[in-house]
Amino acid sequence: MAERTINKLEGRARAEIKIPGDKSISHRSIIFGSIAKGETHVEGFLNGEDCLCTMQAFQALGVDIDYNEENKTLDICGAGMENFIKPSKAIYLGNSGTAMRLLAGLFSGLNFSTTLTGDESLSGRPMKRVIDPLALMGAEIDSNDGKAPLLINPNEEKFKLKGIEYNSKIASAQVKSAVLLAGLNADGLTTVSEPHKSRDHTERMLEYFGAQVMSTGTSVSLLGKDSLKMMSGREIQVPGDISSAAFYMVAGAILSDAQLKVLKVGINPTRDGIIEVLDKMNVDHDIYQSDNYSFEPVADIMVRSSNPQAMVIDGEIIPRLIDEIPVISILAAQAEGQTIIKDAAELKVKESNRIRSTVNMLKALGVEVEETDDGMIIEGRNTKPFDPDLDEVVIDSHGDHRLAMSAAIAALHCTKPVRILKTEFVNTSFPDFFDILDNIKEKALVNAQN
Ligand code: S3P
Repeated sequence: MAERTINKLEGRARAEIKIPGDKSISHRSIIFGSIAKGETHVEGFLNGEDCLCTMQAFQALGVDIDYNEENKTLDICGAGMENFIKPSKAIYLGNSGTAMRLLAGLFSGLNFSTTLTGDESLSGRPMKRVIDPLALMGAEIDSNDGKAPLLINPNEEKFKLKGIEYNSKIASAQVKSAVLLAGLNADGLTTVSEPHKSRDHTERMLEYFGAQVMSTGTSVSLLGKDSLKMMSGREIQVPGDISSAAFYMVAGAILSDAQLKVLKVGINPTRDGIIEVLDKMNVDHDIYQSDNYSFEPVADIMVRSSNPQAMVIDGEIIPRLIDEIPVISILAAQAEGQTIIKDAAELKVKESNRIRSTVNMLKALGVEVEETDDGMIIEGRNTKPFDPDLDEVVIDSHGDHRLAMSAAIAALHCTKPVRILKTEFVNTSFPDFFDILDNIKEKALVNAQN
C-alpha cells in the first residue's frame, strides 16, 4: 500500500493546471462509442483506472478499441450491440460504481449472460437501486443480497425488456443512466424522474449520438429500440473534470498566497455546485468562458487566496457537488463561521462512507466538526492553518481517492506533516494528482527564495 507525507506549502503558489478528462464523460464515451455504429474518436480521455475498467469490459465483449495512452485518445470501432460476443470470464470493474451500475442497465438487453465483479469497496456498495428498476423492465439480475457480483441473465425473448416510468427516490445519475441504457433495448418509451436533477451527461451524449431523448424538469424520456438504431459514431472532446479541478480550486482559496488557474474544465450546470459555493463563500475567483466541447460547456477558472465565509449546503445543490464534498469540507474548515452540510446521506455509500471518513479527516487535522445523519457541521478556522496537537497527522483514505486528495490539499496548509495512507487510489480518477501537487510546491519554494 502506498503512502505519502505532505508538508506545508511555503511560498507563493502560482500555476496553470491542465485537469484530466471528466470521469463520467469518459465512461460514457466508451459505452456510446461501443453501441453506436461507426467510428468514434475520443480526445482527452481520462486514463484513470475506473475508465480503463470500462474500456476493458467492452474489449472483452469484442469491441475494437484502440487506446493511445500518451495522447489520451480512443478510437472505437462501433459495430452495434448485436455484434457483442459473450466474454470468456466475469467482467472486473475495480472501484467503479458508475461502470457497474451503467453496465448492469446496458447488459440487461444482451442475449447472453454477463457477470460483473468489483474490488472490496465496490462489492460493498448498494446495487439494489439499479436491480429494482431493471427488474421492473423485465431484466433478471442475481446478486449477493443486493450487492456485487451481479449475474445478468440473458434477454433471450425478443422485446423482453419493456419501457417503464420510473420515479427514483434518490437523485442519482447512475440509476437514471442504468434505466435509460436498458431503455435502449426496451420496447416503447422509458421515463425516469428524480427528486432533483442529477448530472445529465447520459442525456446529452445520447442526443449527440443521434438518440431521441426528451428532458423536462427532473424527468427524462427515451424512445427505446428506435433510438439505438439511430446512433452512429461521433468525435468527442472530453472536458476537464470539475471534480478533479475542485482540489486545486480549494487549494487556491485556502493557501495564503495563491493564484491557481484550472484549464478547460467542464461547467455543465448539473455539475457546477462548487462554483456556486465559491460565490456564496466569497472566494475570490474568475471564470473565463472558453468553449463548448461537443455537447458540454467548458471554462478556465482562476481561484485566489481568500477569506471564505461559512454557508449552509443543502437541497438541490447536493447532486451538483456530491463528489466535491470532501474537499469542500476543507474549504469550510478554513471559513469564518459554521458551515452546515445536510441532505447528503448518499455520501455514506460512496467509495467510503464519506460522511464518516471526511469527519475523521477533519478531526485528525484539529478541526471542530460534528457528524450528522445526512452530513456534518464544521466550525471554520477563519483562515488559520490546521494545527493539530500531534507531531504527525495520519489520515487513512480508506482506499477512497477523493479522501486521499482532500487530505493532501489540507496538508498544504497544515503546521504538521500529514501522512496519508493508501494514496495509490488516486489513480482511480486523477493519476497525475501528486505530480501536479509536487510541481506547485517546488515552484512556490523557488518563488519564495527569489
Ligand atoms: C456519477 C454519478 C454520481 C457520482 C459518481 C459518478 C456518474 O453518483 O457520485 O462519481 O458518472 O453517473 P450517483 O449518480 O450515484 O449520485
